[in-house]
Amino acid sequence: MDIANAYAVVGGVIFGILLLLLLWLTQRSAVPSQLRSLRGKHVLITGGSTGIGFHIARRCAKEGAYLTLIARTPSKLEEARSLLTSSLSLPLDSVSLKAVDVSDSEALTSAIKESFEWRPIDVLVCCAGIAVPGIFDETKLINLQQATNTNLLGCVYAIHAAIPLMKTRTRQQPSSIVIVGSLSGMIGLYGSSMYTVTKFALKGLAELLRFELLPWNIYVTHVCPGFTDTPMHIEVMKMTHLVRLVEKLYFMNMNVVESPDEVAKLAIEGMKRGQYLVTTTFNGFFLRVLSRGFVPAESITAFVAELLLTVPMRIFSLLWVIHAKWFLRKQDVHSPKQNGFCANMSS
Ligand SMILES: NC(=O)c1ccc[n+]([C@@H]2O[C@H](COP(=O)([O-])OP(=O)(O)OC[C@H]3O[C@@H](n4cnc5c(N)ncnc54)[C@H](OP(=O)(O)O)[C@@H]3O)[C@@H](O)[C@H]2O)c1
Repeated sequence: MDIANAYAVVGGVIFGILLLLLLWLTQRSAVPSQLRSLRGKHVLITGGSTGIGFHIARRCAKEGAYLTLIARTPSKLEEARSLLTSSLSLPLDSVSLKAVDVSDSEALTSAIKESFEWRPIDVLVCCAGIAVPGIFDETKLINLQQATNTNLLGCVYAIHAAIPLMKTRTRQQPSSIVIVGSLSGMIGLYGSSMYTVTKFALKGLAELLRFELLPWNIYVTHVCPGFTDTPMHIEVMKMTHLVRLVEKLYFMNMNVVESPDEVAKLAIEGMKRGQYLVTTTFNGFFLRVLSRGFVPAESITAFVAELLLTVPMRIFSLLWVIHAKWFLRKQDVHSPKQNGFCANMSS
């Protein structure tokens, strides 16, 4: 054997050993959920009356789960229940409704306690959310507070009320918490104001709970969808001037949306696998590389892919910032036509 071949053999052996070591490490660090089937389980979904929350409800009900749906508007909740029960031929009492504003901590805590008395909660899905598109300082304070109270505190209150109840039984019966974030929680999306701030905060909450709840058999999954075809997205798209600017800034088409049912499918599959971070789009996969934080990838393929993509993604972010600086300087942000970015949504 010549020297080149000897080097190739030694290199191959070292590479093989490293790969096996990586495989062992990813398996050791994985946190596989034991919640395999939703049949007979109780799934509580905040924001379950429309959009992504409704589709999560539909898929869980199809698998035989009991549901509690929480939202503010009683008529939307009733409509959701009648759609679910009629399309899936379910008894009306398999879906419980609670008309509660998630930003009202007392009302939400009582609703969750009542739901637990009906049936112990196996899966808590925090999905209620509102968008507050606009430039931060042009957005009314009341709207910034409303986004914080709904997207962040609404989730905090729900989880805080549910965990002590879940802990009473999870030694024997594993359970899950699904936090619906957004790609806006991975990138400070221009013009998304407090929405992006609240979604970044949810990422921290998910990472914290992922570790704190490990000994309790409660698994945390953080789902970060991209633009999804829901009433929320339709509202955001009405801000045509801002939408056009954001599309040029990020080289994307905001009319290209995912189906809420596909997002629901990936969220539930991820939750069942005990996956920590679930993204649902192509660009989501790349953003995951830049924002995964301290939680490692769950599979060796994801781990290796993320490892290899880290350097190219950092270089891409460097190039993108140069484009963003040039593009935003070119915009005449002081011109009156630029005003009106803010939706000032107060409903
Ligand atoms: N659509 C997207 O492009 C997209 C992308 C990434 C992430 N997400 C996230 O996905 C989640 C669901 O959004 P979606 O697009 O499905 O929106 P959606 O169709 O507008 O649904 C929002 C749900 O939350 C409820 N809700 C809103 N404020 C509430 C409050 N204060 N208390 C209780 N319930 C409340 C709504 O019902 P009521 O109005 O009757 O209360 C409704 O059931 C949100 O967290 C959102 O940030 C959405």
